Amino acid sequence: MSKQPIGIFDSGIGGTSIWKEIHALLPHENTIYLADSKNAPYGPKGKQAIIDLSVKNTEFLLKQNCKLIVVACNTATTNAIDFLRSHYKIPFIGIEPAIKPAALQTKTKAIGILATKGTLTSALFSKTSSLFAYNIKVIEQIGNGIVELIENGELYSDAMKTLLKTYLKPMLDTNIDYLVLGCTHYPYLIPLLAELLPKHVKIIDSGEAVARQTKAILEQHNLLNKNSASAKISFYTNGNPAILKSLLTIDSTVKTLP
Ligand code: SIN
Repeated sequence: MSKQPIGIFDSGIGGTSIWKEIHALLPHENTIYLADSKNAPYGPKGKQAIIDLSVKNTEFLLKQNCKLIVVACNTATTNAIDFLRSHYKIPFIGIEPAIKPAALQTKTKAIGILATKGTLTSALFSKTSSLFAYNIKVIEQIGNGIVELIENGELYSDAMKTLLKTYLKPMLDTNIDYLVLGCTHYPYLIPLLAELLPKHVKIIDSGEAVARQTKAILEQHNLLNKNSASAKISFYTNGNPAILKSLLTIDSTVKTLP
């Protein structure tokens, strides 16, 4: 049993979509969330820059005595998780786009994937894609500009609608029936995407699967917190705390980092 917190970091506020799933499944776990919004987006950065930022976030969470770290950012996972796992002793959970379930369930044999450049050009993504989606059409789309708008609190603005319409068009022209959200910021767009997509197109993200994997790894390492006292939850950001707070489903203070 371990009361030590679970650490969760993202390039910004999007990973709170993962924090929500983890908190729902593991409500007694203490959690510390770090939003590196000052450096968002990670997507267009090079691999070494993404590793350096991921190390900085990890060091912060280790100083808070975290027992496990969830890299709640697809771009940081695909570029930096191997490095983190080989340099630190604690377990790391990463986020990968849910290509496998979409590829297994598609009836039109065409799926869309919206993700950052850093994710779509990574070796890990191309390995997963060639393993599970070799016999279907995968329409990949880099979501340039989306993370910036979400970080600015624009989940439903005209600018967001225009971007999404442009990015979805080639997918709809190819008759996709699954849209994979390959960035932890994007689940906040589900209400808008549901308006823009035909009813038969299903949207998949990785949140629930990541929460289940977090639980399984904690069990495996005998690290689950069996104490039923209410969890201690902390949020830190080096961006705008009000925007992060507006996404939360609980009333929590958000501390500012330099
Ligand atoms: C980004 O920082 O560019 C997006 C984060 C992600 O890939 O989940």
